[in-house]
Amino acid sequence: SISVDNVQALAFEELKDIPIRYVRPEIESEEVLTDKSLQVPVIDFSKLFVLGKPGYEDELANLHVACRDWGFFQLINHGVSELMNEMKKVTEEFFKLPLEEKMKYAQIPGIIEGYGQAFVVSEDQKLDWGDMLYLVPLPINQRNMRFWPQNPYSFTKTFDQYSNELNGVSNELFKFMSINLGMEPDAISRLYENCIQSIRMNYYPSCHVADKVLGLASHSDQTGLTLLVQVNEVQGLQIKKNSKWVPIKPIPRSIIVNIGDIMEIMSNGEYRTIEHRVTVNLEKERLSIAAFHTPGLEVKIGPLSELGKEKTAKYKTINVEDYLRLSISNKLDGKSLIEQMKIQE
Ligand code: SIN
Ligand code: FE2
Repeated sequence: SISVDNVQALAFEELKDIPIRYVRPEIESEEVLTDKSLQVPVIDFSKLFVLGKPGYEDELANLHVACRDWGFFQLINHGVSELMNEMKKVTEEFFKLPLEEKMKYAQIPGIIEGYGQAFVVSEDQKLDWGDMLYLVPLPINQRNMRFWPQNPYSFTKTFDQYSNELNGVSNELFKFMSINLGMEPDAISRLYENCIQSIRMNYYPSCHVADKVLGLASHSDQTGLTLLVQVNEVQGLQIKKNSKWVPIKPIPRSIIVNIGDIMEIMSNGEYRTIEHRVTVNLEKERLSIAAFHTPGLEVKIGPLSELGKEKTAKYKTINVEDYLRLSISNKLDGKSLIEQMKIQE
C-alpha cells in the first residue's frame, strides 16, 4: 500500500487548485436525480417484533421488497438511539482532535486498521476526499486495541457497546430476511456465528471544488450487510438506481441498511448489492459510521442450499478467507468482485 495525504489537513490549506489525484472529471457527466419523491424504503423495526399483529406481515413484505428492489433501506425504531447518540459524539470528538493526537492511531503499512485513508494500490489511483478511522471489533479475540482511541476517554466503552448492539440488529435482520427467502429463521445468522464486524468512521471535509471530488468513489460493499449511521445532518450518500444517482435523504436517528455482495451471493441474486458513492459538501464537513458484517473466515459463501433445490446456482461458492484475498487482488485489475463470482451461462 502507498501512503497518501491526510485530507483534513489538505482541506485546511484551502489550496486554489487541489491536487489532480482528487479531481474526477467524469462526475460532471453523470446524472443525479433531483426528484425528491424517489426515496429508499423505510422499515419500522418495531413492527417486526409484534408477531401475529396485522402490522407484522405488512412490514415483513416491505422488508422483502426493500431488499429485492432497492438493496437499501432506512431502519427506524431500532431501539439503539441512545447508544447511537453516544457513538456519534465520540466519533465527532475523535475527528476534532489535533492531527498529532489522531496520528497516535495511524494505520501502519499493509494494515487497513487505524486512522488514515482507504487502501491505495498505485501511484495514479484517484483519491477519495476523506479520512477514516477503521476498526475491527469482531471477533473479540482478534481486536487490535492499539488502534482504539483512548481519547475521547469514553470511546472504548461506547464503541464496544455499539459493536455489540449493531451486531444484534444485523442478526435480527438476518432472521427476517431468512423468513422472507423461505428458509428457517436462523439460515443466515448461523453463518454469522463468528461474524467479522468492521466499523469505518468517516470524516469528509468540505471542499471548495466539491463538484469535482468524491468522498468515496462508486463501489458496492463486499460484505454481507452494512449498517450506516449519519453523524451530522449533511447529505452526501447517493445510490445508483436505473443508471442514475439517487441522493439519500437520511431520516434523523435512522440506520441506513444496505445489502452487500455476500448477501447477493447467498440469496442467489434475489437480493441485490447496490452501487453507491459519497459526494462532498461545499461548506460543511460530513461524518458517518459504517458497520460491515461478514461471516467468519472459514464459512463457505455461495447460494444457500435451503433456498430450494430447483434453483440453479448463479454464483460460485468460496470460503470467506479466499473471497477476501480475491477482493484485495481484484482491486488491482479493477474488475468488480461480484461480477467475478457470477457463473457464466
Ligand atoms: C459507505 O461506506 O459506502 C458510505 C459511507 C457514507 O455514507 O459516508
Ligand atoms: Fe459502501
